[in-house]
Amino acid sequence: MNFEVYDKKLSEIKADCEVIFVIDKNFEHKWVTDKKDLKLLNFKAEPEEVAFLPHLKKLYVGAKSLNHDEIRIAAAKAAKKLKKTGIKSVKIGTYIENCPITNIKAVVEGFILGSYSFDKYKSKKETHPLENVYMAKEDYSDKDFTIENAKKSIKEAKIVSLATNYTRDIVNHPPQDMTPEKLAEEAKKLAEENNLECKIYDEKYLEKNGMNAFLAVARASTNPPRLIHLTYKPKNPKAKIAIVGKGLTYDSGGLSLKPSDFMVTMKSDKSGACAVLGIIKAASEMELPVEIHAIAGAAENMVNGNAYKPDDILTAKNGKTIEVRNTDAEGRLVLADCLCYAQDEVKPDFILDFATLTGACVVALGEYTSGIMGHNKSLIKKILNAANASGELASELPFNRYLPKLLKSEVADICNISSSRYGGAITAALFLSEFIEEKNRDKWVHIDIAGPAFVEKAWGCNPYGASGAGVRLAIKWLQKEFVFHKKHS
Ligand code: BES
Ligand code: ZN
Ligand code: ZN
Repeated sequence: MNFEVYDKKLSEIKADCEVIFVIDKNFEHKWVTDKKDLKLLNFKAEPEEVAFLPHLKKLYVGAKSLNHDEIRIAAAKAAKKLKKTGIKSVKIGTYIENCPITNIKAVVEGFILGSYSFDKYKSKKETHPLENVYMAKEDYSDKDFTIENAKKSIKEAKIVSLATNYTRDIVNHPPQDMTPEKLAEEAKKLAEENNLECKIYDEKYLEKNGMNAFLAVARASTNPPRLIHLTYKPKNPKAKIAIVGKGLTYDSGGLSLKPSDFMVTMKSDKSGACAVLGIIKAASEMELPVEIHAIAGAAENMVNGNAYKPDDILTAKNGKTIEVRNTDAEGRLVLADCLCYAQDEVKPDFILDFATLTGACVVALGEYTSGIMGHNKSLIKKILNAANASGELASELPFNRYLPKLLKSEVADICNISSSRYGGAITAALFLSEFIEEKNRDKWVHIDIAGPAFVEKAWGCNPYGASGAGVRLAIKWLQKEFVFHKKHS
């Protein structure tokens, strides 16, 4: 899909169809010229409502406001509607806001994210007919809105949304075709394409380096684990950032087996790993001025005679002992060792981890929202602001002084599950926190993406299945934190 912005009036641009966003229920907007037809169609300009007028070559889409979130979702709706037509080019006015650069980005993201579908395993493929999206500058007086700035924004928006689709694609692959080894191959391919350093470690490395918690989780699978470490190194980086992802290519629960209904969709338990690959892809393509280390623990949580067991006591990379009381709380075991690895090998200024860690997070926040946890309140606030500006939903789940006690073990340093049924997302994060060194406490934020990473219905600009949660949020945070932006970030 190609995007162009022209220093012209909309009426001077030729396209198969015009897309118009409508926020006013009475159509009091000067761009809404087909009031009679819209009334005949009973179009109410409700959010996500579409009215296609093929004879007039117009597609009207309702939106609550001209905020970037609304525009992104409306553009995604337009893209979905156009999929069923033969329309190859559309034009859109940049009248759409008082902040046109932000909304140009939202239009691009909406079209790319909204036209995504995963049909690799379908006999009949559906290709999207849309090739060109044209936007008009009209006579905007905003001095930041130059064609040059607009083009730069289009490029950034394309990179971040294509990286999100890349993450979606890997997550959507079925578990028999996306084993830890295959995921490592994907990472290697990405490294070759994007000129990244790539290290892939097998079980021998994990054994040699005392990563026994990770190894225990992987032990019952015929598909061996892999530790993936990609590095993006620009010249004169402003900071060193480790992004760590949970990469369970399948989570059956292990001996604490999941009930059948809860096991389906557990191919998505690799979403954190896929997110960190998408993030480093986008960051390197945008040439962000930060050194990024994407670290993913890829394993399969399965059952066999050699499976790790409730009652086992494991020793993690940092020497801490863990009493296993539930083999379905496996993500935190893999992440414990990966977080130790990140701190030992990278010595980062910031550590962000992404994981489909707990069902409890989905219970707390619903399916669409990521849970943000950590010790550093101001860093959490920045992550929340970035999420907000990126179009992802996120909310803090706060630590407190009482919850850590629930992880106490009588026989080891810590237990892998809480003794209480409540607050499970936070106690899981507090477990991870035990593997963050004191000096790194304020550098670390945990992002539980169990809800939004994979939803079995389309929502906003997300399709059925994988959403690529974490990618847009992280890139926005990196941009806000390390790239100087005058205005529209
Ligand atoms: N992968 C799951 C968490 C999950 C649940 C992700 C639903 C996506 C959707 C994780 O490994 C798990 O099973 N967690 C347990 C923890 C419990 C045993 C303490 C859970 O949430 O039930
Ligand atoms: Zn599990
Ligand atoms: Zn899991």
